Amino acid sequence: MARIALGISGGIGAYKAVEVARGLQQRGHDVVAVMTRNARRFVGRLTLEAITRHPVVTSQWTNGANAGVEHIALASSIDLLLVAPATANILGKFAGGIADDFLSALYLATTAPVMVAPAMNTHMFEHPAVQQNLRTLAGRGVAVLDPGAGYLACGWTGKGRLPEPAEIVDAAHRLVGGARSLAGVRVLVTAGPTFEDIDPVRYLGNRSSGRMGFAIAREAAGRGATVVLVAGPTALEPPAVHELVRVRGAVEMRDAVMARAEGTGAIIMAAAVADYAPAVREPRKIGKSADAVTLELRRTPDILAGLGAWRRERGAARPVLIGFAAETGEAVARGRRKLEAKHADFIVVNDVLEPGAGFEVETNVVTLVGRDWEEALPLQAKSSIAGAILDRLERALGGQVTP
Ligand code: CTP
Repeated sequence: MARIALGISGGIGAYKAVEVARGLQQRGHDVVAVMTRNARRFVGRLTLEAITRHPVVTSQWTNGANAGVEHIALASSIDLLLVAPATANILGKFAGGIADDFLSALYLATTAPVMVAPAMNTHMFEHPAVQQNLRTLAGRGVAVLDPGAGYLACGWTGKGRLPEPAEIVDAAHRLVGGARSLAGVRVLVTAGPTFEDIDPVRYLGNRSSGRMGFAIAREAAGRGATVVLVAGPTALEPPAVHELVRVRGAVEMRDAVMARAEGTGAIIMAAAVADYAPAVREPRKIGKSADAVTLELRRTPDILAGLGAWRRERGAARPVLIGFAAETGEAVARGRRKLEAKHADFIVVNDVLEPGAGFEVETNVVTLVGRDWEEALPLQAKSSIAGAILDRLERALGGQVTP
């Protein structure tokens, strides 16, 4: 059981905080609610008091609050500060170190882990100021939950909705060590595209954003795994992991993976690795002359197939090997062929032409394809797909023949 301060700031999603508080309690945690002045316009203080069975902290200026220097007392007694919903305003205050109310002072005063669930209008969420603040907070180790996309209370459609209370509760529960189901397991995850250089200016790349691989790495770290993340070129903020290795091309990625494969419990190849790279990398920029030019391409090493062969040679069942297949038609059948050819344990297959699936979006529609089983998952956030993949992995690590 952990003691969790639930910070609630003034957004329409504040009413969902009641369910978050209940969900955390159901998992056995002790919850103290901290409301900003504006949060009280959206949800009743009495409701939260009745549910948490603690006085709701709203201001450091209330009578009695200073007897125990309340924000310091609370700051040192909690295992997690969770802010849901986190408005643009409170995120800005956290990022800027402003402490003009109880919640922002608590953020500065606590050494406990901090998790925020941003929720606001899409344009506010996408504003560079807010994005910069989120990067700053993530850089300080604050866990930032991805807001959902959809119809928002303000009438706009887009990203900015508070994630479902159950998702917030799961994430917080994992962060306080309630579900360290992968503790002691070394998990290597690859993510993002590869860039294959043509000359010093140009390269061949692909549209992978790294979101799926980063979501898996984040989820595995949350479950207590020792995570090694090998990431191709992507602008996304990586999650906090044990080791982050930045690579560019397929050969460099293969070398980074093979050098770290020994001793891993699982390798998850979420990266979109180029199949071909220019046969030569011109040392100088190729100039413009002829009407047409031909670029000679050569096969790159197939990292997953190499890992499959390496594991077979050793007659070992570890590491568990998980591949991905982004297809454009006949996805499951093609995925199954890759599973067999590369000797993987299961392949996460998706059809990038389906709405809500594929690159550069937060959601995906995938089917997990194993040797003698299949599991089709409905459209959902990449973060929850990561959870489903790791649930399967845990079953495989548990020694079951069918993961
Ligand atoms: N993969 C790899 N090394 C490569 C190419 C792919 O390790 N050179 C991995 C990917 O990370 C993914 C899986 O293999 O986990 C399937 O990738 P995909 O590109 O779909 O498969 P290919 O074998 O390249 O087949 P094709 O491009 O013909 O569909």
